[in-house]
Amino acid sequence: MTTASTPAIRVSGLEKSFGELEVLRGVDLEVQRGSIFALLGGNGAGKTTLVRILSTLLRADGGTASVAGHDVATAPDTVREAISLTGQFAAVDEVLTGRENLMLVAQLRRLHSPGVIADDLLARFSLTEAGSRRAGTYSGGMRRRLDIAMSLIGDPPVIFLDEPTTGLDPQARIEVWQTVQALAGAGTTVLLTTQYLDEAEHLADRIAILHRGRILVEGTLAELKKLLPAATVEYVEKQPTLEEIFLALTEEKAA
Ligand SMILES: Nc1ncnc2c1ncn2[C@@H]1O[C@H](COP(=O)(O)OP(=O)(O)OP(=O)(O)O)[C@@H](O)[C@H]1O
Ligand SMILES: [Mg+2]
Repeated sequence: MTTASTPAIRVSGLEKSFGELEVLRGVDLEVQRGSIFALLGGNGAGKTTLVRILSTLLRADGGTASVAGHDVATAPDTVREAISLTGQFAAVDEVLTGRENLMLVAQLRRLHSPGVIADDLLARFSLTEAGSRRAGTYSGGMRRRLDIAMSLIGDPPVIFLDEPTTGLDPQARIEVWQTVQALAGAGTTVLLTTQYLDEAEHLADRIAILHRGRILVEGTLAELKKLLPAATVEYVEKQPTLEEIFLALTEEKAA
């Protein structure tokens, strides 16, 4: 059942191992509709594994997960219709132009008027002028924007962005951030993973830190800041940055 109050993503006790390696050891989280949720964690923490389970590419060993009100294990086809996934390695075809890439996806999804859909997305992502150029000539930021645009064809209510700005320069990152904010503003739910703590700090409504197979902490940036005392320097309070919170929490629990 899907009602307005159903979270867009609900994960409960999720477990996944690869052989002896226990990657997810009981992950719980909820993402509200139309919000941006950032999943943080070091290399190998299991972020991509979690995203792959939520996007039905991988089966969990235990626990449950639902996306847009549908169970990923029992209704994967329905979940697939409600989501899109943009991975770190863009699905862009370099030989085709930006417009042709978009039209191809629209055609594969059997949508009417692929040209109109392509032109609309090119305009939304400030790619109209570049639309007739081969995608192989695009900069990293343009390519990433095209990739996100491609993933929006069909208006999925939930999108997964696995490290959407890795390798981009600061200007291109800001362009992707604006894109993501516009999406959430229009009601799309966004779950993104990132290595960049400032990205989570800047973009996310709620932030979760995945560490040693579990969600170590989850909350708004303000809530996470309360976990560390503010340092008082010459009578001026200095709020901890998300990076300081992340390092303090993950180092404490290491050992
Ligand atoms: N198909 C697989 N077979 C075996 N081990 C795997 C497989 N997929 C992932 N792993 C292992 O699971 C762990 C978690 O990997 P995952 O890719 O989910 O981490 P991540 O948090 O996305 O890391 P990164 O920040 O480097 O992208 C890693 O130790 C990885 O080597
Ligand atoms: Mg990953």
